[in-house]
Amino acid sequence: MATVNHKILILSGKGRVGKSTFAAQLSFALADMDYQVGLLDIDICGPSIPKMLGLEGQTIHQSNLGWSPVYVDSIGVMSVGFLLHHPDADITWRGPRKNGLIKQFLKEVYWGELDFLVVDTPPGTSDEHISIVQFLKETGIDGAIIVTSPQQVSLIDVRKEVSFCKKSWDSGSWGG
Ligand SMILES: Nc1ncnc2c1ncn2[C@@H]1O[C@H](COP(=O)(O)OP(=O)(O)OP(=O)(O)O)[C@@H](O)[C@H]1O
Ligand SMILES: [Mg+2]
Repeated sequence: MATVNHKILILSGKGRVGKSTFAAQLSFALADMDYQVGLLDIDICGPSIPKMLGLEGQTIHQSNLGWSPVYVDSIGVMSVGFLLHHPDADITWRGPRKNGLIKQFLKEVYWGELDFLVVDTPPGTSDEHISIVQFLKETGIDGAIIVTSPQQVSLIDVRKEVSFCKKSWDSGSWGG
């Protein structure tokens, strides 16, 4: 992660509000501005980035530098979706196993020199969110973009996400 300049989390307490769409569009927008961009999908149970970017069926390659991301244009993409043998295969993992994979995505993937790493997350404030904040603490997180839709039921959940961010920021968990 030392070769990654800025890390941005895309969060929302609520599901289906457009996190993955936004993460993908932000990555393309930054790449269009000639930045080197990585897109990391840590939605372990519902990875949608491979489908969204037309990368279904692609697999990760191992090199002597580590796992190689799958590239679309110049954007390096990593998702658990690339590790599944079948798109309908389910992943029903408890927290520690999810945490282990997220750690591998950060430590064992050869991201190269990146201006931005955009991290797409699942809805909520669960294992994946705690892990990513914890693992990126050493090198620091630049910020989070919280996506919502205007419905009251979305806003209730989104306020919880804001509380999570504030609490982890205040406790120094964002590092950097
Ligand atoms: N700005 C938008 N306007 C209208 N529809 C949108 C917009 N952004 C995303 N969508 C659509 O809403 C649906 C959900 O989007 P997306 O998968 O990006 O949400 P998500 O928050 O990542 O969902 P999940 O919580 O399941 O990960 C998709 O069908 C997507 O095409
Ligand atoms: Mg999503």
